[in-house]
Amino acid sequence: MRVAFLLLLTAAFFPAQPQVEDRENPFGGDAGAVEEGKKTFAGSCGGCHGTTGEGGRGPALRDGKLIRRSNDFQVFTTIKKGVAGTDMPGTNLPDDQIWKLVAFVRALSSPAADILVPGDPVAGERIYSAQNCAGCHMIAGRGGMLGPDLTNAGGSRSYEYLRESVVKPGARIQQGFAKATAKTKDGHTVEGVVRNYTNYDVQLQGRDGKLYLFKTTDLADFKVEVATFMPTGFAAKLSREDLTNLLAYLSRQTSRPVELRRAKGAR
Ligand code: HEC
Ligand code: HEC
Repeated sequence: MRVAFLLLLTAAFFPAQPQVEDRENPFGGDAGAVEEGKKTFAGSCGGCHGTTGEGGRGPALRDGKLIRRSNDFQVFTTIKKGVAGTDMPGTNLPDDQIWKLVAFVRALSSPAADILVPGDPVAGERIYSAQNCAGCHMIAGRGGMLGPDLTNAGGSRSYEYLRESVVKPGARIQQGFAKATAKTKDGHTVEGVVRNYTNYDVQLQGRDGKLYLFKTTDLADFKVEVATFMPTGFAAKLSREDLTNLLAYLSRQTSRPVELRRAKGAR
């Protein structure tokens, strides 16, 4: 009661005071801020939260429901002041750097399409073609089926997730896309990913693009590995700029038009 009364009084005496609690990130529209925040994060926060927020001594900050529910200023305050009674320390980094950390932490848990990302998506599309990503991935109904459909990659995945998928394939294998091998009793071996599986039959999307259906009674061996068909060489093969552009292209892939999403989540 008393606190509420005081707050009311404050509001009455200082009506023109800005609502500090709603303050937005001054770097909210700055794609470079995410990159800078990422570097600071790796140095100052990675020891506890993992260099890309995957978690460790501190909680994972990816896909953080809590962060999505907090506004920018609340995240800023958590980082600046820490969380009393826990291992989360405050920091004396300058406010500018803290806001860039907020931009990065936010980017970890928002779909890539909802944040500004660096790079040129048109150039990125050319790299996507040149590297034959479409050999395994479908976008808007065109492409292969050995890897996940990327039509809504930007609408459903964070920028960091997309980056990791390209740079470190297999770090988090999507359900249903692990490498599987079936050996038939008559000596054929087929590699692919499992489309469907029951006690009686196995449906494999073959590496060769064909669909295979086996009766389990015809199989001599069947195994699913913790491994992926996604090639591992892209990190070494692509220049920094090419990778940035490729990620810009992936980030723009949504089943809804990007303009609509922007307008809705307008910053
Ligand atoms: C010594 C370990 C440690 C360091 C260093 C650290 N954190 Fe934390 N952080 C934690 C712990 C533990 C929590 C969970 C606190 C709690 O239980 O509420 C946390 C919580 C958070 C949260 C809130 C998460 C949520 O879901 O609400 C954010 C955001 C965060 N840290 C960001 C950072 C940033 C940015 C830095 C670097 C400036 C940093 N942390 C440095 C340990 C650490
Ligand atoms: C030989 C097949 C193959 C090629 C070529 C390939 N990928 Fe993949 N990709 C996969 C498979 C299989 C997965 C799922 C397993 C995993 O996450 O590693 C995957 C996963 C992904 C994911 C994560 C999708 C999600 O929703 O989890 C992204 C993003 C991706 N690939 C992008 C690319 C890009 C960009 C290229 C080209 C530079 C590419 N892939 C080339 C097979 C391929």
